[in-house]
Amino acid sequence: MATSDSFLMDSLSDSLLAAVTETSFYGPNHPPVAEKPPKPLTELNLPTAVINCYQRSGISHLFAWQAECLEKASASGKRNFIFSAPASAGKTIVSELLLIKSVLETKRKALFIEPYVSIVQEKSNYFRKLFSSLHLRIASYAGAGDSHHSFNNSHIIICTIEKANSIINRLLSNRDDLNEVGIIIVDELHWIGELNRGYLLELLLSKIIYYNQLQTSINPVQIIGMSATIPNLNQLAQWLNAETYETTFRPIPLEEYIKIESILYNKQFMPIRQLHLSDQWNQGDSEGITEIIWNVIEHNCRSVLVFCSTKHWCEVLAKLLAKNFRRIMDDKQINPLDKIKLEDVIEQLRRTPVGLDADLACSIPMGVAFHHAGLTIDEREIIENAYRANIIRVIVCTSTLSSGVNLPARLVIIRSPLQNGRCIDLSTYLQMVGRAGRKGYDDYAESILICSKKEVNLVQKMFEQQKTKPVNSCFFEAETHTSLKRALLEVISSGKANTKEQIISYIKSTFFYICTNSNKSTIDEQSTVDKCLSWLCDNELIHYIDKENIDNENNLRYEPTQLALAIISSSINPDDGLKLVVELNKAQRNLCLENDLHLVYLIIPQHLINSMLTTLDWNVFHTVWPTSAVEQHVAHLVGVNGMIVYKKAASLRIEKREYEEKLDAPRYARFFIALILNDLLAEKSICDIIRKYECTKSFVQQLQQTTATFTCIVQIFAERLSWNNLKQLLNGFQSRLNFGIKQELCELVRISILNACRARQLYSDGFTTIASLANGDVHELER
Ligand SMILES: Nc1ncnc2c1ncn2[C@@H]1O[C@H](COP(=O)(O)OP(=O)(O)OP(=O)(O)O)[C@@H](O)[C@H]1O
Ligand SMILES: [Mg+2]
Repeated sequence: MATSDSFLMDSLSDSLLAAVTETSFYGPNHPPVAEKPPKPLTELNLPTAVINCYQRSGISHLFAWQAECLEKASASGKRNFIFSAPASAGKTIVSELLLIKSVLETKRKALFIEPYVSIVQEKSNYFRKLFSSLHLRIASYAGAGDSHHSFNNSHIIICTIEKANSIINRLLSNRDDLNEVGIIIVDELHWIGELNRGYLLELLLSKIIYYNQLQTSINPVQIIGMSATIPNLNQLAQWLNAETYETTFRPIPLEEYIKIESILYNKQFMPIRQLHLSDQWNQGDSEGITEIIWNVIEHNCRSVLVFCSTKHWCEVLAKLLAKNFRRIMDDKQINPLDKIKLEDVIEQLRRTPVGLDADLACSIPMGVAFHHAGLTIDEREIIENAYRANIIRVIVCTSTLSSGVNLPARLVIIRSPLQNGRCIDLSTYLQMVGRAGRKGYDDYAESILICSKKEVNLVQKMFEQQKTKPVNSCFFEAETHTSLKRALLEVISSGKANTKEQIISYIKSTFFYICTNSNKSTIDEQSTVDKCLSWLCDNELIHYIDKENIDNENNLRYEPTQLALAIISSSINPDDGLKLVVELNKAQRNLCLENDLHLVYLIIPQHLINSMLTTLDWNVFHTVWPTSAVEQHVAHLVGVNGMIVYKKAASLRIEKREYEEKLDAPRYARFFIALILNDLLAEKSICDIIRKYECTKSFVQQLQQTTATFTCIVQIFAERLSWNNLKQLLNGFQSRLNFGIKQELCELVRISILNACRARQLYSDGFTTIASLANGDVHELER
């Protein structure tokens, strides 16, 4: 046995040995599947300029399936097209070629929709490089404050689902503007079934289908969708009236293992090998993950992704791995890592607005990082780039990284089959292991799912699913019909469906309509639509035009109110919009400006309040209850009472007239968040804030990012309602929240190398503006 296999087997028991197939952990245990030969790009009827772009990036052939798929899509003309291929099969190139052909041939814009902000950024950088010689303008829309100007001047627009929806709303509301778009590519089409954001994807595609039907023109907007995991592809095709293509081809063979105690099993639960892991190297790591990963780093010089179910687990495991790696390196007197480049990564992190995270500072020198939604976008980008460059070798992450980001791994480890107390489903599993082995990086790849004996049954059941769950519409999911109300408000506001008849015809363009009809659901869409229309009328979001002169109800015309237009332009759902308008209205008449507390209270999005409602610790709330008169005055203005907080903390009885859970709890949760933000903007240190409010750093960072984005939304909202004073008051808040700074530092942090801490230091030394820095003495500045 090669020395490099030291952590593996050598002590198989006789009974296991009989079952064990002869295989090496460092090589595939089945011969590669015979493939059809790849096809040269030159034989695919592509413009020479496009072929050159790919050849420059090292790609001269398409896999046989890619060529077949592209030919089928091209043959179907401008019809919609959806295709499915396993993770890492190479779907992206097919969609890129369809996109670029459309842009060059039709001279119309292309929208490329990705589910995550980080992927939008990755993709736009990649497109700019790939198509640099074609002189196309590429815009990306992901964060707050993207301008319409760049949309008008761009050929290719890469955006998140939310941004795509607001772009389409805007284009629809201007006559014929949607004609500017020739093609819409939807990556990860299965997101339609995602509970929280999926409905938005359905909503926007439904609008396109409806619009295409309205158009008598021969130039419909073409939809291309792709995904790794859609068992009911045909149902989606029926909805989109699309051609389909499916393949199971995977360019890199993947060995999937399940680890139970120290034995690796295959997916049929046949033992494959016994791991022999040393206690000395795996301290605090009963699963021996340290040594398994270390072998890949030392002997394969490759990288590893580890999926954990919570952010906290990611951080703990990353620190543990780093500690153990240090010990191994000291023992073996070797260091396979690039120390200088790792130091540079640390330096880049230090320069981000939030500064260097103490846990990352410990783990990165050992080539290990964690990656989850609690990190800022900048932090994540630095880590992803360093990982791609093989500088960081291990990323411990949550499942957010499993979708689409091109971070190849030689080995993927799933730390537990449980997520939020339930077994992951097959599609999540496939997405995660799909990160293993990327063409051009690996010849084969492996995955290990770590599972306890107790969890075996669950995992077996998960594999028995055979097929991933069908993708379903989330349109009518919630009891409150939030998605449907939003859908109706958007389509009415766009001016494309204003009569009852048109509205029903729009509803028939939804995936929901296809699902309910084929599943023989009992939901009565007519009456649900009626209920939602009445709700919109009652809340003064829509009204009838010319009601008196119309005899037939079907001919009534619905029009949006100013408030509805404000809600649509700020891309929030109508329920949240109504809550926001109540708070803003109240504040307009009675606003305390002595510090930031009242203003930050106004820029907290509803979803943050909802999640705080489930975690709010009243004891902590009681201990942080403000003692200053100004803050207590704000509490009074927003209707929050210290006595209630005290009673809640002490579990004392509260009269119904004083406090009603459903009505008042959101206001208290909101005030608690406002207190945290107020401290942050007063430049209290993150460490002090975490200690005071007993929350995590990632929570505070998430708070900063989300409220910074929401500030923009509130400003757009206020502007549409002509509440200009309020809008002005929020100027500068976005940058203040992102950096956690007082107003006076806003100018200095515009310099990219300055974070809050450095800017404060310079400010205290008298460098209060960019001009004063530019004129400053170099030696003094260096100090
Ligand atoms: N024809 C090709 N020749 C060489 N490499 C290719 C080719 N097609 C794709 N690849 C490479 O294969 C890798 C995986 O491709 P891609 O990201 O498109 O996978 P995917 O099917 O979108 O997977 P996922 O479902 O995980 O997003 C990439 O590194 C890509 O550069
Ligand atoms: Mg992909």
